[in-house]
Amino acid sequence: MPSVLECSGTLQPSQENWGKKMGKGCRSNMSFHFHNTLRKEFFATYQHLQEQLPLVKLYAVTCEYIKGEKQFYYRAHQFYQDVPASEEGMMGDFVELSEVDLEGSRQFLKQFVGGPGKAGTRRALDCGCGIGRVSKGVLFPLFETMEMCDMMEEFLLHAHEEYLGDDADRVESYYCYNLKDFMPPPKRYDVIWIQWVACHLTDKDLMEFLMRCKASLRPNGVIVIKDNMARQGCKLDPADSSIIRHLDIMKSIIQKAGLEVLDVQKQEGFPEIMVPIWMIAMR
Ligand SMILES: C[S@@+](CC[C@H](N)C(=O)[O-])C[C@H]1O[C@@H](n2cnc3c(N)ncnc32)[C@H](O)[C@@H]1O
Repeated sequence: MPSVLECSGTLQPSQENWGKKMGKGCRSNMSFHFHNTLRKEFFATYQHLQEQLPLVKLYAVTCEYIKGEKQFYYRAHQFYQDVPASEEGMMGDFVELSEVDLEGSRQFLKQFVGGPGKAGTRRALDCGCGIGRVSKGVLFPLFETMEMCDMMEEFLLHAHEEYLGDDADRVESYYCYNLKDFMPPPKRYDVIWIQWVACHLTDKDLMEFLMRCKASLRPNGVIVIKDNMARQGCKLDPADSSIIRHLDIMKSIIQKAGLEVLDVQKQEGFPEIMVPIWMIAMR
């Protein structure tokens, strides 16, 4: 969801800092294990996160397990249990910006869909769809059928029973999965839309999910990530367990997933005080 959280005082990583952090001393104790686990999960954002939070605390709020699940995911699940199944819930305190957001998405997407060499209009997948706000406002008008994935069953039920109205008849499948575990079927989608949910995956899980999405595209298919992007470095928000990454950090994860960036555009029309929102198209 949109956010006013900002990334003040985050330092840029430097070889010097890195050297200090990974000095000889830490190899012989528990911190070596913490460092390695965190670096594996958050490879592109790790140094930035480390500038904000001490290693032990960072490990605890991300990689430690509660009830068999990493805290990072457990906390996000807890957070969304208290979020109402409504447009207000999906947009946080900024529901009045929903139409601006949807119009920005429609304009961005239309360059990649319909016509020679562009994505087809057979089927789209909405990831982290919530109640289907994006499906309803952006994807249904363009695609014959839709599939939707979210980890919260309550949101999917509300989408099907109420929010989507007659459009619900054109939903082929609802998948109730955490994206880190979701295996989209191969060669199935013309467009895969991932909005305000990439921030809920660790770097490693996001990269692996994007690899699966790539395999799930039909010819000329396109993946779009739309999310809050930090002005500098990156920032962990422990309240909803999300990570706001700088655009360059996001691009490095996309590149590692073997995808090519086609276009990048900032969402206009949001107040300056808010964390900037960017759209990235890739295949
Ligand atoms: C801020 S809402 C955005 C919903 C929708 N994309 C929109 O723009 O209206 C974030 C959604 O992502 C879902 N979500 C968060 N983490 C997830 C994960 N790891 N796997 C699947 N869904 C997740 C939440 O349940 C919630 O519906």
